Amino acid sequence: MRIGIPRESRPGETLVAATAKTAAQLAALGYDVVVEHGAGAAADQPDTAYEEAGVRVGPSADVWASDIVVKVNAPTEEEIGLLLRGATVVALLAPARSPELVERLGAAGVTALAMDAVPRISRAQSMDVLSSMANVAGYRAVIEAAHEFGRLFTGQVTAAGKVPPARVFVVGAGVAGLAAIGAAGSLGAIVRAFDVRPEVAEQVESMGAQFVTVDMEQEVSADGYAKEMTAEQEAATAAMYDEEARAADIVITTALIPGRPAPLLVTAETVAGMKPGSVVVDMAAANGGNVAATVKDERVVTDNGVTVLGYTDLAGRLAAQTSQLYGTNIVNLLKLLTPEKDGRLTLDMDDVIQRGISVTRDGEVMWPPPPVQVSAAPAAEKTAVLPVEQAPPTPPDPRRRLYAAGLAAVLFLVLATIAPASFLPSLTVFVLAVVIGFYVIGNVHHALHTPLMSVTNAISGIIVVGAILQAPTDNLAVQLLAGVAILLASINVVGGFTVTRRMLNMFQKG
Ligand SMILES: NC(=O)c1ccc[n+]([C@@H]2O[C@H](COP(=O)([O-])OP(=O)(O)OC[C@H]3O[C@@H](n4cnc5c(N)ncnc54)[C@H](O)[C@@H]3O)[C@@H](O)[C@H]2O)c1
Repeated sequence: MRIGIPRESRPGETLVAATAKTAAQLAALGYDVVVEHGAGAAADQPDTAYEEAGVRVGPSADVWASDIVVKVNAPTEEEIGLLLRGATVVALLAPARSPELVERLGAAGVTALAMDAVPRISRAQSMDVLSSMANVAGYRAVIEAAHEFGRLFTGQVTAAGKVPPARVFVVGAGVAGLAAIGAAGSLGAIVRAFDVRPEVAEQVESMGAQFVTVDMEQEVSADGYAKEMTAEQEAATAAMYDEEARAADIVITTALIPGRPAPLLVTAETVAGMKPGSVVVDMAAANGGNVAATVKDERVVTDNGVTVLGYTDLAGRLAAQTSQLYGTNIVNLLKLLTPEKDGRLTLDMDDVIQRGISVTRDGEVMWPPPPVQVSAAPAAEKTAVLPVEQAPPTPPDPRRRLYAAGLAAVLFLVLATIAPASFLPSLTVFVLAVVIGFYVIGNVHHALHTPLMSVTNAISGIIVVGAILQAPTDNLAVQLLAGVAILLASINVVGGFTVTRRMLNMFQKG
């Protein structure tokens, strides 16, 4: 079968559905691949790059007469007319928002596969173009903001005075939000972020940002997506958005609930209260925007000097990278659809991914697909059903502790009865030390276990001293035990100090 990669017809489009590298990977699956002249030019993929990779570059007619046409944007009316009956077209089709397009594709008798309908399940991650694009776009949003912002992101102390770090506030910590947090943090800004899903706080903090909390009822989402806010939640967050935006130099908004218009979170009054020179990047502009002042695809400067960017082509502004990621997602999909690697595309409607992306099949409208049973979907009951791998560990049976304590007590009594009287005080001290140590260390937070090692070193030092004092005796068993104690405790002292030094080195500059 032949795969055609056309030049994108949307004005200003920079992306291409296959780079030289991914086109060669498609050919390795047994397909005859043809790329339209100039298709990759705006993504740093000249025709020569494809030819060097062994991929044919040809005219538009050849490409559109292919069995499979792989694109970035949905085909236009004219392009649908060029498709062969029975051909397959793969692109970003937004089928939920484009009922006429779905109908038109059905009437054309083609099979249409929507890359933007890949279900967000772990097995489909390597084909998830929306995540690939949101990741690049989040990074680019920070670069756009830095370009507009008249100052440095990082704080500095210079001979000419102190430069404060920029303060960045990110709304929504999904794929795009986390990428923006990472990029802004690595430029040296102080980053704060908020998301309605409280479970993302840990991810935000692990990237060095501060998670903003609001005093309101928040529910951990069962399927990884946010729910629409209640009136109380809206009221509680409104004041926070206002306060954070006014204090920030850069605001990046990414809040989205799939299938809904973007929630309006930053009001006109809030933007009017922001500092002159501050920048807002509204990544949700394509879905209506999170910010009142946003104009889709425009750069707006408000009366009080705030720049609001509503660009919807952020991923396309890093065309080479995004095309490579998109192309790799396509290759991964075609690997799934070409199980024999024989250049023949097969569609299995029992497979949740293949069914999920099928908009039409040989002219039959297949949209919408049955809902995907996301493993973490909420159950009908109040409790959420978690997948097996995510199920919380069963709490240990409290009786087990009692049995263990009882067994230890019996052992202690037996030892106390058979051991010589002089051994009893040492045994008592040992047992008490084990019990106290267990409860003290068990209640210390994991993050503090390493500092605790220094204390352990000191204790091991005491063991060494004790063993040295015991060693000069005629009793061979005591000598042996003292020797072993000195060896083990010394290993602990040296090992502990080595690890502690390594940890400290991690915090030392240069
Ligand atoms: N401008 C561009 O060029 C471009 C490119 C790619 C993606 N995007 C857009 O970026 C946005 C984010 O994409 P994503 O893939 O990261 O989506 P995502 O679903 O992974 O993340 C969206 C996040 O917003 C959060 N959220 C929802 N409602 C909220 C609210 N009221 N307050 C705070 N947080 C809220 C969700 O919990 C979620 O974490 C989307 O609107 C997408 O269309 C824009």
